[in-house]
Amino acid sequence: MKHPHAQSPTILFSLLSILISFHYACASSAPRNSLHRGSSLLVENYASDLLTSADGSFTCGFYQVGVNAFSFAIWFTNSKERTVAWMANRDQPINGQRSRVSLHRDGTMVLTDAEGSAIWSTNTTNTKAEKAELLNTGNLVLKDPYGKVLWQSFDHPTDTLLPLQPLIRNNKLVSATGNNSYFSGYYALFFDNDNVLKLIHEGPDFSSAYWPNPDVGVLKNDRIGYNRTRIAVLDEMGRFSSSDSMRISATDLGHGIKRRLTMDYDGNLRLYSLNESNGSWVVSWEAVPQQCLVRGLCGEYGICVYTPKPKCSCPPAYEMKEPSNWNSGCKPKFKGRCYQPQQVKFVELPHTDFYGFDLGPGQSVTLESCKNQCLQECSCKAFTYRLTGKPFCFLKSALYNGFQSPDFEGTIYLKLPKSLETSGTSAPMGSDLTCGSKTQVLEHSSGIGSTGSSRAKWKYLYSFVFLIGAIEVLFIASGWWCLFRKQKLKAPMEDGYQVMLNQFRRFTYAELQKATKKFREELGRGGSGAVYKGVLEDNRVVAVKKLGEVIQEEEFWAEVSTLGRINHMNLVRMWGFCCKGTERLLVYEYVENGSLDKHLFSNASISRSNTSSRASPLNWKQRFKITLGTAKGLAYLHHECLEWVIHCDVKPENILLDKDFESKVSDFGLAKLSHRGGSGSEFSRIRGTKGYMAPEWALNLPITAKVDVYSYGVVLLEIVKGIRLSNWVVVNGEEEAELTRFIRMVKRKIKYGEDTWVDDIVDPSLRGQFNRNQAAMMIEIGISCIEEDRSKRPTMDTVVQALLECEEDESEINTANML
Ligand SMILES: *[C@@H]1O[C@H](CO)[C@@H](O)[C@H](O)[C@H]1NC(C)=O
Ligand SMILES: *[C@@H]1O[C@H](CO)[C@@H](O)[C@H](O)[C@H]1NC(C)=O
Ligand SMILES: *[C@@H]1O[C@H](CO)[C@@H](O)[C@H](O)[C@H]1NC(C)=O
Ligand SMILES: *[C@@H]1O[C@H](CO)[C@@H](O)[C@H](O)[C@H]1NC(C)=O
Ligand SMILES: *[C@@H]1O[C@H](CO)[C@@H](O)[C@H](O)[C@H]1NC(C)=O
Repeated sequence: MKHPHAQSPTILFSLLSILISFHYACASSAPRNSLHRGSSLLVENYASDLLTSADGSFTCGFYQVGVNAFSFAIWFTNSKERTVAWMANRDQPINGQRSRVSLHRDGTMVLTDAEGSAIWSTNTTNTKAEKAELLNTGNLVLKDPYGKVLWQSFDHPTDTLLPLQPLIRNNKLVSATGNNSYFSGYYALFFDNDNVLKLIHEGPDFSSAYWPNPDVGVLKNDRIGYNRTRIAVLDEMGRFSSSDSMRISATDLGHGIKRRLTMDYDGNLRLYSLNESNGSWVVSWEAVPQQCLVRGLCGEYGICVYTPKPKCSCPPAYEMKEPSNWNSGCKPKFKGRCYQPQQVKFVELPHTDFYGFDLGPGQSVTLESCKNQCLQECSCKAFTYRLTGKPFCFLKSALYNGFQSPDFEGTIYLKLPKSLETSGTSAPMGSDLTCGSKTQVLEHSSGIGSTGSSRAKWKYLYSFVFLIGAIEVLFIASGWWCLFRKQKLKAPMEDGYQVMLNQFRRFTYAELQKATKKFREELGRGGSGAVYKGVLEDNRVVAVKKLGEVIQEEEFWAEVSTLGRINHMNLVRMWGFCCKGTERLLVYEYVENGSLDKHLFSNASISRSNTSSRASPLNWKQRFKITLGTAKGLAYLHHECLEWVIHCDVKPENILLDKDFESKVSDFGLAKLSHRGGSGSEFSRIRGTKGYMAPEWALNLPITAKVDVYSYGVVLLEIVKGIRLSNWVVVNGEEEAELTRFIRMVKRKIKYGEDTWVDDIVDPSLRGQFNRNQAAMMIEIGISCIEEDRSKRPTMDTVVQALLECEEDESEINTANML
């Protein structure tokens, strides 16, 4: 446009055109607050296809909840983390490609996923719904031409109540499962049958209300049970009141503050105010000031302790049931049979109680007598002896809702077999935990450093609770702690009182340098970076991957925390990560037998591995197991786990084999991690490896999970044939993929009905020792996976089902020479 000798009319013209285009740009990007009948919001345009309330405070559109996973949601425009106020499909996120929300001509607003099936819709079919409008209150309403509201999001709350949004009979606020995880969790705010507004934990094993205080009557809690209106509202001043006469006020009572009342994932109900100058939320009220009194935080036998942050732990002689999942609590390390009185001992945990599950009413008896009753009663697992109030003695049939609090003037006595070693447990834990050595013991064992604390400080912190629920929390905590200075804590773990080991965490660079002996032993090198072997301080053998191209720390953080949650036996487990300057490292479990290519192509002339390890060829059983395991791993990534993850680079080098030759897919999620990409351009660059890449990469079509199905198909056929089909060969002077030639041959053989077609295809090095039915099925699956038209390819789920059907088939296998 610019020209050094431009004449004035040209200048004028260009100025004018700039002005016009500027004006046009403004007009077209002006935020809109409604969606009209017949129009849609597209997930691909999630950054721009948005509805914004007239005053700008709320935004509605597609909200990214994970790798390639979205939900239709309303969020606070001005909060730093785009806090979600409402979500249509929290439990069923949709794919980041070809999903949309539309206001159909029949009046229904529908959310459809990539396949076109309806995931969510309003109940306004055959109404005159004309538009969906986002109001300044944060309410999304469907209106008819006369302005009558036919449907509103306020009637369908998720975990948050906005000012003026009534919570009524049959509605509930249901917590999410974790920070930045939006699935429905176990905590709810609702009106119970006695017309009282309550907080309840509805776990898989038991449910238990905890607010208002269930130990005292309705009236003692300043509630009334006779008003059947059942309505609760947060007003614009910050007062929350309900028909059972509950009244609470925000500490910053007043107009003009954006607020929300949220059923948090840690079971606490909190009222928040937005500080618009920095976009952060400040708690202005919370229902349960002592976080550990929230029920169900730590599962069966688990105890919530303050360190000083609330955290879960197991009592002596118990250990975590499932690593990294506190919902299932702890399990005894001894057999839970009925012991003779002389075979048991009691271990005291002062200031600790397990709430509920009493064997009969409490009694005012001496400690000795209480102990004797528990000894005589087989089902008594422990008893609580209280020092204040009456009665004192409570026998426990089950141990749930464990908590430790200096305000609890009592002790729980755990009944344990006498033979069990539980040294050190008779020391009063309550006080020790708050300061001094034991705190350090706890934190040492969880790999989390401490900034140090005094009793006074943590008492104060009570009232200021920082939320901690189940595992999610640790996750974040570990990250946070690592950001701060980490102390080396030498105290040994001695009293059997274990705080859970946080499985996924951030490592320091020094730690990994030490583990890998300064990155000495290289295991391999691929497109995404080099991999080194290492041994952690706890003797875990790991593979440390240094990523090549790096992405911003925040983005990296968000991605790896998603990947760290993925846990499937056919996927390589990620234990943690490390960021230092521009270095990004990932820490994986070490998989003994290396990658599939080394075993599969060991006889072939070219082996790509740079180590000269001689791998033994795989027998048929192993090949089938690897095929099935890989399919299961990919199916999990595509469908079952929290988010949809498209691998984008499935090939034998990325399929690792453990000591039992069970396959573990590696490097998933790296497509997004190791390449920089602007928003929406997630898959704009070609990924993958020549020979395994689906045609849609070249055709510039949207990338779906079907690209992995294609690559899997190639790998599957390679497993059967025992050679690299992804190579290119020269036939009659033309370059052609080995695969194309192979498929042509297979189709010809099948067409002419050659009896021995299967035998001709299967790897000759097996010397005929394979299962013919399985081989035929595998070839069939392989061929369908590499269909040009991706809609003809099966999903990974279908592949798994088909393989499972012939898994048990032992018919034609000649076992004489197996293994
Ligand atoms: C949709 O359901 C809500 C409550 O569930 C009801 O108030 C509203 O009238 C319904 N709308 C139509 C059009 O049926
Ligand atoms: C939730 O996660 C975000 C970022 O992942 C973090 O900034 C925030 O502090 C977390 N909130 C809590 C309550 O832990
Ligand atoms: C019941 O609660 C509603 C809403 O708070 C209130 O308007 C009504 O007066 C109450 N009824 C009685 C009998 O207290
Ligand atoms: C909001 O945050 C800023 C910066 O931290 C602070 O100066 C200000 O006082 C805060 N406003 C309110 C109302 O808390
Ligand atoms: C924002 O302001 C609040 C006070 O209103 C403060 O507690 C918080 O730390 C501030 N956050 C940031 C990121 O500055």
